[in-house]
Amino acid sequence: LPVTVFANQVEASKAVARRIADVILAKQQKGEQAVLGLATGVTPIQVYQELVRLHREEGLSFKNVVTFNLDEYYPMQPDAEQSYVSFMNGHLFDHVDIDKANVNIPDGAISRDKVEAYCLAYEQKINAYKGLDIQLLGIGRTGHIGFNEPGSAPNSGTRLVTLNDLTRSDAARDFGGKENVPTKAITMGVGTIFKAREIILMAWNTKKASIIKKAVEGEISSDVPATFLQLSDHVEFIVDQGAASDLT
Ligand code: F6R
Repeated sequence: LPVTVFANQVEASKAVARRIADVILAKQQKGEQAVLGLATGVTPIQVYQELVRLHREEGLSFKNVVTFNLDEYYPMQPDAEQSYVSFMNGHLFDHVDIDKANVNIPDGAISRDKVEAYCLAYEQKINAYKGLDIQLLGIGRTGHIGFNEPGSAPNSGTRLVTLNDLTRSDAARDFGGKENVPTKAITMGVGTIFKAREIILMAWNTKKASIIKKAVEGEISSDVPATFLQLSDHVEFIVDQGAASDLT
């Protein structure tokens, strides 16, 4: 599993943004749409900052871009402050020329009896666009990718899941207390992520060092869903020195 270590997360984030921009430009030249799989959380924030800079200062256009986000809390109103819709608008979509009709984020407000059909349709919509050109990932301290917590199957698709206790603790600050963190989420599956033509997993900080070691060097197991990425030949881990510090 290729791991690229950068001196710091700013340099790493710029490199990842460049890779995304290159995908967008290559598709633009062919008159095609670029289909991006996007993540939320603190890890990709500087990637989005750099993409906004590329748009403003270097004319990078998102007119031919279609996006699918990995996940959303459930239940979650899209206009709530903690929603991943608000996150993506605030960090990226409101600052570039993307057509909002091309933005796809799992709907945390869908009624419970419609969730299964909704998840299937989300999966099918990705397929209808002929799959994701590039998927960005962070990693949770449980080893989750998207919200595929320990126990997730390698061929899992988009579905409703229960969040791990540690994941909810890590989200507590955003919600003003763990008791306010939703217990569930809608997430793309490990199988959905796997089908992307290029996968980049990012991690910064020594806080992520032990889970990065497990993901890269550990036995492949649903106990640490990120280990499934070892089976892919089109994945790259991009980390800073802190996150790389436990690697042998
Ligand atoms: C977010 C997501 C999660 C995060 C992970 C790391 O869309 O799917 O897997 O990438 O929880 O979160 P941060 O980046 O906040 O450490």
